[in-house]
Amino acid sequence: MMLPKPRGAFSADVFEALRSGPSGLAEAQLPEAESPEDEAIALWSLYELHFRGFEDVEEDLEWYPAVLHLRGGLETELEARLRARRTEDAPDGDFAEAFFAFVEDFDGPSLARFVQTEADEEQVLDLLRMRSIYHLKEADPSSWVVPRLDTAPKAALVELLFDEYGAGNPNRLHHHLFARGLEAVGLRSEYGAYIDDVPVEILEQNNAMSLFGLHRRLRGAALGHLAAFEASSSMPSRRMAAGLERLGLDSTMIEYYTEHVTADAAHEQVAVRAICGTLLDQEPGLLEDVFLGAFTCLDLEARAARHLLERWGRAA
Ligand SMILES: [Fe+2]
Ligand SMILES: [Fe+2]
Repeated sequence: MMLPKPRGAFSADVFEALRSGPSGLAEAQLPEAESPEDEAIALWSLYELHFRGFEDVEEDLEWYPAVLHLRGGLETELEARLRARRTEDAPDGDFAEAFFAFVEDFDGPSLARFVQTEADEEQVLDLLRMRSIYHLKEADPSSWVVPRLDTAPKAALVELLFDEYGAGNPNRLHHHLFARGLEAVGLRSEYGAYIDDVPVEILEQNNAMSLFGLHRRLRGAALGHLAAFEASSSMPSRRMAAGLERLGLDSTMIEYYTEHVTADAAHEQVAVRAICGTLLDQEPGLLEDVFLGAFTCLDLEARAARHLLERWGRAA
């Protein structure tokens, strides 16, 4: 993958500096970001140095101090914004019960319901392009949390990840299933292929997962995010599969979603009880961050859904 298109003067200068190597970055005088998306695409690209990197950026820059310094400033702003959006305290009582109720009661528009009943093929393809940014690296940001955990949550997280990564079979690996689905419906399947097309809401969704995954301090938020993601996936996956079937789209993409109907019904139990529950037994002080992660997952999905529904001329 090459660096994406800049979305303002700030990201343009960041990309120019990344392309010119260590000396370019050390000397760069960067302007203020012009817009949230100018900032978000820059941060997304800095995070990508830790995933697959870019053909036009030297691999060594991943750990270069000036890059980390720049990323750190953008992360401070992102984290402050995410924390400011969460205005309630974590609920009391039994954790798992409270967590499932929190996800269940969260009020946001459902793209899956729209796909099931009303969306046309163009809208579904548009949605799949948006989803491709995460689904082509599905589970990767959660993997960073593994070495940060002790026995019980670690064993449970690895059990869940084993499934996400195909349980030893590359053909069952979830991001590979999604890539094959993209090809089957006539879309591009290369990693990051649609990054220039996605709105700031999708960039922020992906940046939040990298932020939580890359910082040990935020392990509670990373796992709360994962648990909310799994707990809000099974029924929507059923709706997505039904919508794709209604439109007669290729069965390979439908299989990606039917796989998640059953997989995530199990994963939500593992993620909430065996991962977050045991983490909180060990470290009860992480409760607020677990709910911060869960809230962020649901809130950013709602923001992305509202954006897409508005773009399609549907009131969210
Ligand atoms: Fe998955
Ligand atoms: Fe899952």
